[in-house]
Amino acid sequence: MQHINIGIIGGGTVGGGVYQALQRNGALIASRLGVQINVAKVAVRDLKKVRNVTIPSQLVTTDWRSVVNDSNVHIVAELMGGTTTAKEVVLAALKRGKPVVTANKALLSAHGEELFEAANQNCANLYYEASVAGGIPIIKVLREGLVGNQITRLYGIVNGTCNYILTRMKLEGGDFGDILADAQRLGYAEAEPSLDVDGHDAAHKTGILASLAHGFWVNPKQIYVEGIRPISKLDILFATQLGYTIKLLGIVKATEPVAAKKSKATRKSKIKNRKSIQVSVYPVLIPNAHVLASVNHVFNAVLLRGDVVGDTLYYGRGAGQDATASAVLSDLADAALDLKCKVKNRVPPFVPHERAGNVLPIAEAVSRYYLRLSVIDKPGTLARVAAILAESKIGISSVIQPEGHEGESVPLILMTHDASNAAMTKALAKIRKMPVIKAPPVMIRVENFD
Ligand code: NAP
Ligand code: HSE
Repeated sequence: MQHINIGIIGGGTVGGGVYQALQRNGALIASRLGVQINVAKVAVRDLKKVRNVTIPSQLVTTDWRSVVNDSNVHIVAELMGGTTTAKEVVLAALKRGKPVVTANKALLSAHGEELFEAANQNCANLYYEASVAGGIPIIKVLREGLVGNQITRLYGIVNGTCNYILTRMKLEGGDFGDILADAQRLGYAEAEPSLDVDGHDAAHKTGILASLAHGFWVNPKQIYVEGIRPISKLDILFATQLGYTIKLLGIVKATEPVAAKKSKATRKSKIKNRKSIQVSVYPVLIPNAHVLASVNHVFNAVLLRGDVVGDTLYYGRGAGQDATASAVLSDLADAALDLKCKVKNRVPPFVPHERAGNVLPIAEAVSRYYLRLSVIDKPGTLARVAAILAESKIGISSVIQPEGHEGESVPLILMTHDASNAAMTKALAKIRKMPVIKAPPVMIRVENFD
């Protein structure tokens, strides 16, 4: 049987998980592929660190270059994270013609175009299944399974840490900081957890999925991002009373031709018929009857709508050692098979097939809204708020002023019909200036999945 050696850069949560999973299932993989994958070397930062997965000391080094340059290492797995040294690692391996496997969505988001170009130039593949949605093979789905579809909608719960926090806040009423500490202990959170809770990790992943689905590289700066820090227990409670669950959602929507015509971004574009898509990450109210509302804890789910297939749904653990290791193993298997069969680029990692596309400015995106206002309870308040919304052509679909709230101000909850973000922003600026409004209005979008 042929033997393929891998060098792993990073022996932490994911690297350790990959080493452990290969010990457990290496023989199974070999029987399925006809090629044995061996770990030749593992680079870490600190040789003395106590690890939950023991890696034999003779395999471990602190010198990643010695791993990448070793002619006995055929595939490099970059599992260290970050965007500086990690980029050097990936480029160094690709320049040597070695296939690279990475779980690093931050790296791909920041430098994906350049890295895929380097892979192309060097006829070496760059695999990245573990970069999005943990154990769900969503990259393979988009790249291979749905290759015959135009993707019209993509909705993803793609950050395990945020979903874990929101789930426990809803089910237990727990404290944000305590639950985040648990997510860190369980190996779900990024080294810098603000990447998770402020929505950036979800944006990295949503950008990768949008690029793959629509065939042009989405500039991360064009992705509108809101995180979950502003979500309070009060909003989770009111959403529940209204029949909704709050989730952080990555959204990619191809705009309809009519809407695209009207779009400022499209009008400005010099390229005719340029594709226009919304790419954003923000918390949304999801109707409890929708399947994504019951995706809880560290689980992720991605709903993809293709013009041929219709709606399809993918569900699984989105973070943590084993789920991520499973995705890395899938990439290692692909890379090893390519080496065994002596084919390069059997499945190209990312091939642009659109000249370019527009990312719709958030101001032009349309949705329904949940508003929570802190108001002084006096006659005429609701009428004035309704009048301001009407001036922006925003219709109200329901209003609640819950009983039993005492004190200077009381909550006023409004649900609206569809409106553009620009219209809502304008209305909120006026509402905020009303003397009876005692705190900045809370606005959360509502997703109907149409
Ligand atoms: P981690 O636990 O912090 O592990 C990082 C590893 O890289 C550590 O072993 C560290 O060494 C090593 N390292 C850092 N700098 C190095 C250097 N200059 N030279 C050699 N080794 C170096 O992180 P992780 O959670 O495994 O995440 C790794 C990557 O996977 C990240 O890109 C992350 O976004 C991605 N990812 C993580 C998950 C997850 O659930 N954790 C899921 C999907 C994707 P020491 O151990 O000695 O410090
Ligand atoms: N920190 C990430 C998350 C890890 O919580 O989803 C998986 O990419």
